Amino acid sequence: MFLVLWQLFLAALAVSAASPTQTIREAKRHNVPVSPFVTTRDGQFFVNGSVFKFVGTNAYWLHALNTDEDIDNTLAAIRAANFTVVRTWAFNDVDTIPENGTWFQHISNGTLTINDGPNGLQKLDKVVELAQKHGLYLLLSFTNNWSPIPGIDQPLPPGFNPLQIRQLQGTNGTNATLPRNALSNSYGGMDTYVRNFGGKQEHDQFYTNQTLINAFMNYTAIIASRYANHSNVFAWELANDPRCNSSIPNSAGCEARNVTRWHATLAAHVQSVDPNHLVSSGNQGYFCADCPKLFPRQVAPPPPPPQHSPAPGVRRRSAPEPLTRSQLLKERKAAWKRERARQKRSGELIGGVKIRGRWTASQTKRQSDLGTGSAFDGAHGVDSEDIINIPQIGFGSFQLFPDQFDYSSGALDTSLPPFNQTLQIGLDWIRRHAEAGQLFGKPVSLTGFGLVTRDNAPFFVPFNTTIAPFGPDQAPPANVTQPFGVTDEQRDEAYRQWIQAGILGGLQGIIQYQWSQSNLTSLQGSAISPVPTESGQTPLTDTSGMSPNDGYGILGQGQTDALQSISVASQGFGPDSA
Ligand SMILES: *[C@@H]1O[C@H](CO)[C@@H](O)[C@H](O)[C@H]1NC(C)=O
Ligand SMILES: *[C@@H]1O[C@H](CO)[C@@H](O)[C@H](O)[C@H]1NC(C)=O
Ligand SMILES: *[C@@H]1O[C@H](CO)[C@@H](O)[C@H](O)[C@H]1NC(C)=O
Ligand SMILES: *[C@@H]1O[C@H](CO)[C@@H](O)[C@H](O)[C@H]1NC(C)=O
Ligand SMILES: *[C@@H]1O[C@H](CO)[C@@H](O)[C@H](O)[C@H]1NC(C)=O
Ligand SMILES: *[C@@H]1O[C@H](CO)[C@@H](O)[C@H](O)[C@H]1NC(C)=O
Ligand SMILES: *[C@@H]1O[C@H](CO)[C@@H](O)[C@H](O)[C@H]1NC(C)=O
Ligand SMILES: *[C@@H]1O[C@H](CO)[C@@H](O)[C@H](O)[C@H]1NC(C)=O
Ligand SMILES: *[C@@H]1O[C@H](CO)[C@@H](O)[C@H](O)[C@H]1NC(C)=O
Ligand SMILES: *[C@@H]1O[C@H](CO)[C@@H](O)[C@H](O)[C@H]1NC(C)=O
Ligand SMILES: *[C@@H]1O[C@H](CO)[C@@H](O)[C@H](O)[C@H]1NC(C)=O
Ligand SMILES: *[C@@H]1O[C@H](CO)[C@@H](O)[C@H](O)[C@H]1NC(C)=O
Repeated sequence: MFLVLWQLFLAALAVSAASPTQTIREAKRHNVPVSPFVTTRDGQFFVNGSVFKFVGTNAYWLHALNTDEDIDNTLAAIRAANFTVVRTWAFNDVDTIPENGTWFQHISNGTLTINDGPNGLQKLDKVVELAQKHGLYLLLSFTNNWSPIPGIDQPLPPGFNPLQIRQLQGTNGTNATLPRNALSNSYGGMDTYVRNFGGKQEHDQFYTNQTLINAFMNYTAIIASRYANHSNVFAWELANDPRCNSSIPNSAGCEARNVTRWHATLAAHVQSVDPNHLVSSGNQGYFCADCPKLFPRQVAPPPPPPQHSPAPGVRRRSAPEPLTRSQLLKERKAAWKRERARQKRSGELIGGVKIRGRWTASQTKRQSDLGTGSAFDGAHGVDSEDIINIPQIGFGSFQLFPDQFDYSSGALDTSLPPFNQTLQIGLDWIRRHAEAGQLFGKPVSLTGFGLVTRDNAPFFVPFNTTIAPFGPDQAPPANVTQPFGVTDEQRDEAYRQWIQAGILGGLQGIIQYQWSQSNLTSLQGSAISPVPTESGQTPLTDTSGMSPNDGYGILGQGQTDALQSISVASQGFGPDSA
């Protein structure tokens, strides 16, 4: 049924390959400048006068690769898979200068030093230059909410000797920590500033302490001015997943407005240094229903963005409204009523609900009255509806990682199997964010989404840890009846449905997490480190190096099918207009 609608939708799409002669006419029609830089108008992105919609991939580790050829080959492969935007890290903070590998900024005792040598910002120069060569745009992040240090702000598992961390790498059955830059959370970030400025050890000092704000303004100014004239920088992202809390806990006073205020300050700052590029947030997309806003919506809503006509039989949604607690509770109550009616009909006695292998109590009336869920009540100190309405924030962004975070509002059909519930939570999350974009008249991009598969479960390392649960090459116990993770087929189905929902709902960009690349050069102590051999010898370089897998890599995990699924679903965006 969905497939039929989908085909109708595809057929209805106007094919509009932009030829050079059409560029000026197109620009006039949309009332946008003919600019090689990405701009926005009426909820859409534009490049050279034409609408720009994209499906992209994440590869945070690009600048940490050991050779230019590796960066070149990786970007070529990404382009060949029909992605047009790559989200990657434009930061690499260290508190001790490493022997090997890339680093950009040394933060020590309140002093900042930039490395613009060949293992410093020249690496990022290469990434930008080679992305241009392959016709790829880059979404560049300035920092990360997450940068845990094992044994310092992250307790080690019992019996774990931190001195053995290096020796343990790559062996089976140990709680191995991975080399620096292997995980997305080992590139420094907010807590690296907090630790090395020596003040109060509270994560939110990063957002509210002027000394730390100044330090981060310095870094963003250096990076934004360095690439201000590069039109293949899609946009800046202030931070990956900014929120009140991290592995260094936040102060009791931290709330969404502190994080929003920081966004407003930094977005204005980056825009003043580099007026050519859009600035975005990078947050998880949490809502804060009924929370006081620093940037309240104007009473008269902006005109709705131009939309494709809905396929026959598809009801056009009424104009979206800002999310309220009473609306969320109403949705939850309706779901609860449907569930009760179903149970009554089937005479079923439901003892609990299984969500991704974890049992939670079944919904009772009392629970349905409890609240709106942590993704909707501001519990994380993020109010994505306040952030998107900051004038210097060019577009909305959100993420979707159901293995890590809870996005449910409690209005779920609990008769569905766990996978279908996860799928549905993602579809609801995408729909709500597409609606938020329409409400505020700005484009919205999903900047990262992924599901951990069963094959990938041994590699899965949550953002707030650096310690892999198993040795990297250990299989999960054979007798575990409900293995963690979905099948490859379920992953592909979820990616396909989420992308389609994003396109139909009105998202303007969708970025998968994450790209996998093989045949990379490895070097001890870098992101691509050689895996110790049985004899304990480590080859200095080998050309069979694989890009880091934190549980979301797809190399050897049905990569061809996964990419095919993404590529086919993304054709709904129409021909590449860039
Ligand atoms: C990329 O798109 C082209 C043209 O639509 C198509 O022929 C090709 O199969 C796609 N590549 C992949 C890896 O899906
Ligand atoms: C850190 O900086 C302060 C003030 O500049 C100085 O007094 C202190 O000696 C420094 N500490 C170290 C370990 O360098
Ligand atoms: C690894 O961690 C698990 C759980 O944290 C613990 O039970 C186990 O003993 C640890 N193994 C080693 C070798 O430290
Ligand atoms: C701000 O941070 C600096 C450096 O960490 C610290 O010395 C100062 O006490 C902090 N200010 C406040 C108000 O916490
Ligand atoms: C930021 O840059 C300014 C100007 O270059 C400099 O005076 C200041 O010391 C820098 N701040 C930090 C924390 O490095
Ligand atoms: C991160 O991990 C630390 C240590 O295990 C924990 O205290 C903290 O609550 C975690 N933070 C978040 C936001 O999950
Ligand atoms: C956090 O935001 C609240 C609400 O605007 C404000 O009252 C408070 O002073 C802020 N905290 C800091 C440390 O700036
Ligand atoms: C769960 O999702 C799969 C894949 O989309 C679908 O084939 C199946 O019918 C769904 N199950 C239920 C009970 O909805
Ligand atoms: C690690 O485990 C795999 C099977 O899970 C096995 O093939 C490999 O030989 C083991 N490696 C070591 C160093 O024990
Ligand atoms: C799996 O097997 C191990 C070793 O035989 C045993 O200790 C464990 O309890 C079993 N787990 C389950 C879930 O059956
Ligand atoms: C692996 O990379 C090297 C160096 O970039 C290149 O010469 C070689 O052709 C690549 N091999 C494969 C199989 O891609
Ligand atoms: C750095 O690389 C060299 C080889 O080029 C290696 O001998 C050395 O052990 C590495 N250092 C670290 C800390 O990994």
